[in-house]
Amino acid sequence: MKMHLDEKIWLSISFGIIVIFMLITGYQAFSLDMAPPSNKELIDPQKVDQTAPFDKPGITKVGEKEYNVVMTLQVFSFNPGNIEVPAGSTVHFTLTSKDVVHGFEVAGTNLNAMVPPGHIQKITQKFDKPGKYLVLCNEYCGAGHQMMSTTITVK
Ligand code: CUA
Repeated sequence: MKMHLDEKIWLSISFGIIVIFMLITGYQAFSLDMAPPSNKELIDPQKVDQTAPFDKPGITKVGEKEYNVVMTLQVFSFNPGNIEVPAGSTVHFTLTSKDVVHGFEVAGTNLNAMVPPGHIQKITQKFDKPGKYLVLCNEYCGAGHQMMSTTITVK
């Protein structure tokens, strides 16, 4: 096959760009630990109530303006709901579903996680601005999906 020099140059450049992107992504994932949340932590969705930490859902203070929230999602609620934290708090959420796929989206923040049954989802958010944040399920989970919401109050 005969190739023009131009063709060879452009092929090399395109291939080079792909290799560079793969190296950057690989470096970020393995050296900087910047991978998407993994599904490494599994749980039997039938036994959520008996499995720690989900046997005691709730909010606990773990430091100066730092909280852990252990929450279960089920049709069509969040447990615990209506959480309150002081402004400036960093909140570590540990979430799982007891039945079907739910979503955990906090309006006005970057918090947006899918919560599939059988998996433990962990996500951290700092709440600087006081206010009442709406928490929504954004995965269609059944007839009451549109009613599945709660709030996080920051004061
Ligand atoms: Cu839960 Cu939609």
